Amino acid sequence: MSATATAVQTPLTSLPAWKALQAHYEKVHSLHLRDLFRNDPQRGTRLTVEAEGIYFDYSKHRITDETLRLLLDLARQSGLHERIEAMFTGEKINVTEKRAVLHTALRAPRGEVIKVDGENVVPAVHEVLDRMTDFSNRVRSGAWKGFTGKRIRNVINIGIGGSDLGPVMAYEALRYYSQRDLTFRFVSNIDGTAFAEATSDLDPEETMFIISSKTFTTLETMTNAQTARDWSLRKLKDERAVAKHFVAVSTNEKEVTKFGIDTANMFEFWDWVGGRYSMDSAIGLSTMLAIGPENFRAMLAGFRAIDEHFRHTPFEKNLPVLMGLLTVWYTDFFGAETVAVLPYEQFLRRFPAYLQQLTMESNGKHVTLAGERVNYATGPIFWGEAGTNGQHSFYQLIHQGTRLIPCDFTGFSKTLHPLGEDHDLLMANVFAQGEALAFGKTAEEVKAEGTPDWLVPHRVFEGNRPTSTFLLDELTPASLGKLVALYEHSVFTQGVIWQIDSFDQWGVELGKVLAKKIVGELEGSGPAPGSHDTSTTTLIERYRKARG
Ligand code: F6P
Repeated sequence: MSATATAVQTPLTSLPAWKALQAHYEKVHSLHLRDLFRNDPQRGTRLTVEAEGIYFDYSKHRITDETLRLLLDLARQSGLHERIEAMFTGEKINVTEKRAVLHTALRAPRGEVIKVDGENVVPAVHEVLDRMTDFSNRVRSGAWKGFTGKRIRNVINIGIGGSDLGPVMAYEALRYYSQRDLTFRFVSNIDGTAFAEATSDLDPEETMFIISSKTFTTLETMTNAQTARDWSLRKLKDERAVAKHFVAVSTNEKEVTKFGIDTANMFEFWDWVGGRYSMDSAIGLSTMLAIGPENFRAMLAGFRAIDEHFRHTPFEKNLPVLMGLLTVWYTDFFGAETVAVLPYEQFLRRFPAYLQQLTMESNGKHVTLAGERVNYATGPIFWGEAGTNGQHSFYQLIHQGTRLIPCDFTGFSKTLHPLGEDHDLLMANVFAQGEALAFGKTAEEVKAEGTPDWLVPHRVFEGNRPTSTFLLDELTPASLGKLVALYEHSVFTQGVIWQIDSFDQWGVELGKVLAKKIVGELEGSGPAPGSHDTSTTTLIERYRKARG
């Protein structure tokens, strides 16, 4: 294993920059954004970065120049630069699974050399992309026929977690660019309702299933895949139909073959692509089918632009580094427990859900790379909602509740659907919310409006609620790629500071194992056969009795 991956690290809380930040926090935590802006007329232009078509305004954060200096010191003392290089060059930085972490290779241009165990992985990436391109062109043009000779009109992706959330999010986000005579559906949940509802109005003769699973052993996906097979064959009545209606995206050739899918219809990816980092691998096959190979490659170019920015830009101008450091600042020093992701773009409505896996499966860890329990907070809870909907729901708590919730606003200067004044109204709300959260409204201002004294406290907005604003030109495949890559690398930055393995997910194992055990105990009636605590036993027994 590489030296960088296993190097003994100074504990985070012993780093000089961490200690300096602790002392610094005491001095600055009560500063108000009103004063920070009043004392620095340039703040709103100074604390911004523009790169790769993204304007990032971080001036409405509770930081001073000294805070930034210390956070950047923390990044350096944490070896962030070395860790970035280790990731990009294929070192096995996922130490608990002994794997390289190379989603960045998925968007590397032909001709680049990135080695894992001495082998250049880039040619294989492009070989798969080329196969995906050929397949997508055939399905999109109608050249690929179903078993009975009809063209494919419906595509259903069956997968879960990283094999679902990225594809769904990207399909929704880029629907404007999609081929509208193809219908796309996504089945993830192990719940008959999900499959039944997705297929109720579809004809098996015109329906193709993409079985997406890195491992090809995931219970939900394999169960749904079997249901899909039965559903298809009930009408098509011939095993040979599987070859025309099922394709697989996986790293596991053996299991794909066992399921009955010809490996000619398998699109490969590799163990160095984490599930939640896989939307631009073959897992994105549904995305390519929807938006076409050219648009898919434009999306990859967007990812690549941010990869290059992250790898080569000095930290003080580096978007993902700044984003990651700000998250650390609020999580560890202010005790903030969540981050709200608020894209003002209807097409990005699944973006918060996508980010939940990316951020929380990556950084929801309490043990360092060295196996020690951390004595500081790690990954915050990411959540959110698109557009102004949240304003009429949970923004009340962000404005006037007792919790500090840093918010990420994302907006686009141009809309894909210009309708009257809609877009100006939408964007006015982005800017208004950032302003209201930062500066609030004082008791004096409320009183001056003629508010009776008893009502004044209720109408005061304390302000000092921190926000980031990301302004992009237009939602395109490339800009989506850039946005996702920003968060991927921000998550990486946070994980490096927290000294955790952002690329494993052992926390999902126990529930899976117990569910496998319990499922065998649900049949029959009377006392539950397994040995569980009294709560679980009672729940199982009630279920056994009720299901009959
Ligand atoms: O939830 C755990 C997990 O392993 C995720 O990391 C992954 O994205 C998901 O399950 C699906 O796994 P697979 O692609 O192997 O079916």
